[in-house]
Amino acid sequence: MKALCFGSINIDYTYRVKHFVKKGETISADSLHIFSGGKGLNQAVALSRAGVETYHAGCIGEDGLFLLRELEEAGVDTRYVHVLKRERTGNAIIQNDLNGDNCIILYGGANRAVTRDLADEVLSGFQRGDCLVLQNEINELPYIIRRAREIGLKIVLNPSPMEASVLELPLECVDCFMLNRVESAQLLGLDDGNAAAETELIEALGGRFPSAEIVLTMGEKGSFYIRGGGRPLRQRAYPAEAVDTTAAGDTFTGFFIGGRMRGLSVPEAMDLAARAAAISVARQGASPSIPTLAEAAAYAP
Ligand code: RIB
Repeated sequence: MKALCFGSINIDYTYRVKHFVKKGETISADSLHIFSGGKGLNQAVALSRAGVETYHAGCIGEDGLFLLRELEEAGVDTRYVHVLKRERTGNAIIQNDLNGDNCIILYGGANRAVTRDLADEVLSGFQRGDCLVLQNEINELPYIIRRAREIGLKIVLNPSPMEASVLELPLECVDCFMLNRVESAQLLGLDDGNAAAETELIEALGGRFPSAEIVLTMGEKGSFYIRGGGRPLRQRAYPAEAVDTTAAGDTFTGFFIGGRMRGLSVPEAMDLAARAAAISVARQGASPSIPTLAEAAAYAP
């Protein structure tokens, strides 16, 4: 069984700041680091480090060739990554504050140059039972989801960053949703996800997507797994000294899906994912913060 991550590849410019810049303000950053990132690349690296045969598909410009090497060093097969001459690689401007929190400006660049021909070419290399992992940083998602469904791939969707267009996707084709609180609320049409009690959100998600698996991550509050009308499973978050939360959610997604593909039970995969995410939070950067399987399995704070 193979995992295909069809998603973004970004150059992350991470500025360490004392606080996020406000309207009209100019601030100095304490440091600037350039990291490999993009939700797609991060999740591909996490899937591969979790121990599954992983392929990445997407587009970069010639300025992003070093990102291909990062993927390959993590064991990801990059034969489906296209290098485009006329596009710049996607990038992210990330402010990382003293609490480890971040805020991000995204420039899609080559990530938005996916074509249906490319999607067809990529998907023809996969078969029923393989797993497709998607986020919301590339174009042509509706087409990719429909084609993947026809082929019989298992479709995992992390609808991040959340925006109105996600509601137009063929969500009925999705087998597994990886969501945070805000994404859950928006999928449910609620105004304020923070106001909703966890139990309400979980119940409503189960009702809205009765045949899908749903994983709801809530940072320090842990995570939940729900399927159909079954009882939700709760996973605690492992303690970690937060340095940079960038890619913690991507790490969780890759290790949970990777764990399940390797035959772990839901509680085992949730536990492994929570350990991996805690390690990632304590390290700076996006994909460089993603642990190996051995590190995640051994994490005992
Ligand atoms: O999820 C973290 C990622 O979001 C960063 O690596 C950045 O590139 C943005 O896509």
